[in-house]
Amino acid sequence: MDISIKHGLPEQQKSACVILGIFERRKLSPAAEKMDQACGGRLSKILKSGDMEGKREQSLMLHQIEGSACERILLVGCGKEKDFNDNAYRKALKTASEALLKSGARDAVNFLTELSVSEHSSGWKIRQSIEIIEHSRYRPDHLKSEKDDEQKLRKFTLAVSDSSELKSAKQGLAIGQAIAHGSALARKLGNLPGNICTPTYLATQAAKLAKQSNTLKVRALGQKQMETLGMGALLSVAKGSSQPPKLIEMNYQGGKKTDKPIVLVGKGITFDSGGISIKPSAAMDEMKYDMCGAASVIGTMAAINELQLPLNVIAIVPSCENLPDGAASKPGDIVTSMSGQTIEVLNTDAEGRLILCDALTYSEKFKPKAVIDVATLTGACVIALGRHACGLLSNDERLAQSLLDAGTASGDRAWQMPLWDEYQEQLKSNFADIANIGGREAGTITAACFLARFSKNFKWAHLDIAGVAWQGGSNKGATGRPVALLSQYLLNQCGKNYQQP
Ligand code: BES
Ligand code: MN
Ligand code: ZN
Repeated sequence: MDISIKHGLPEQQKSACVILGIFERRKLSPAAEKMDQACGGRLSKILKSGDMEGKREQSLMLHQIEGSACERILLVGCGKEKDFNDNAYRKALKTASEALLKSGARDAVNFLTELSVSEHSSGWKIRQSIEIIEHSRYRPDHLKSEKDDEQKLRKFTLAVSDSSELKSAKQGLAIGQAIAHGSALARKLGNLPGNICTPTYLATQAAKLAKQSNTLKVRALGQKQMETLGMGALLSVAKGSSQPPKLIEMNYQGGKKTDKPIVLVGKGITFDSGGISIKPSAAMDEMKYDMCGAASVIGTMAAINELQLPLNVIAIVPSCENLPDGAASKPGDIVTSMSGQTIEVLNTDAEGRLILCDALTYSEKFKPKAVIDVATLTGACVIALGRHACGLLSNDERLAQSLLDAGTASGDRAWQMPLWDEYQEQLKSNFADIANIGGREAGTITAACFLARFSKNFKWAHLDIAGVAWQGGSNKGATGRPVALLSQYLLNQCGKNYQQP
């Protein structure tokens, strides 16, 4: 889709659709006010007739309004003006995007970006608008013979109220598009089924990104190399599958040679049956999403590569299937991780931490500034936080705070949980250095405690995305989270020129 920025008057837009905000109760936004005047008060008259109060999630499509230069006017409810915060703005954008995409409009000019939202810059407002319309445009129909619907929209223009804002707006456009592309890639990979999206497929997709870039290099380690490195924990999970495991390494060098890299680690279980500790069959298909950590890390690399951010970032994706088989790990098996620590595998369904621990140890060789792992790690996190926030645990308070801040700014939020030593006791094993499960209580925390044992030599944070990576029900599909959070965190590492207040 062609996206651009424009400074102009709403009534003069020769567009298939002009999008305007209405506050509760029937209060016109400044742009809607201008349009109303040009149309001889028709908008306020229509509102008075009772079709729309301006509440959140309301919208009204008007056609052929005399006095305007456009074919359609889309009025979007923004709720109470005094409550119009970041969240309300994003909701209005979502409502607008969905109503617009249902219409036959081939192009549109969005004036919601002119609304004032908690002192945010034009760049921020534009960025959100692009991320949200692109999110609404996405359909998981890659494998359908006939597409779900024909998308008509070809051109989307974002309004700025003053030409002095054009610079910030252009930057917002670039950032919004890059994050939207990264997020769409993460969703596509997430939605692909286990028989297509294998570890080898993930490695190929990562390599494809590197082909078009001078700053990004990608390689993948195979089983032999993992054996040489002593990745006994990762290999123990892969043993039950005939798909070869991969450790994908994406190296983005946008900074100085001497800049320490930030390492992102993404859980890439392309299907999690639970292994010998097999899962119940209800909704087991959703375990194709167990590589969404990997997908979000790959999507983030795509975004920063598109933006050519001036920093060094390495993505590590340990990837394999978790299946039951004659060769599979059994409960009680003891394996030796790359770190040398022995692990008693009491439950083969706690496989994520087994592949991540070796990837974390492997990360050490990059002398990282920080390591952030992203994983659909525990069902307990879905129970604790639901679908709205991912779980965040860290051994460094500053790193934790920067990730929380990035979540708030991007609207892709995280919530911190404690990583106190007391919880470590739940991982005690009678036969090995550590057990791979810590009992029913505090499942998200004990999973993170396990990872913390392999992260002692660097600043580390863990994002448990089990609740946010995909949604079930009639709109089943991957969400692309937390590409926006991670991209925002990395943007924030680039200094002033990349800030969008
Ligand atoms: N991939 C699952 C976690 C998961 C479950 C994410 C449901 C989203 C929805 C992970 O590998 C797993 O099976 N975790 C177990 C850990 C337990 C055995 C300690 C879990 O959460 O039940
Ligand atoms: Mn599992
Ligand atoms: Zn899993």
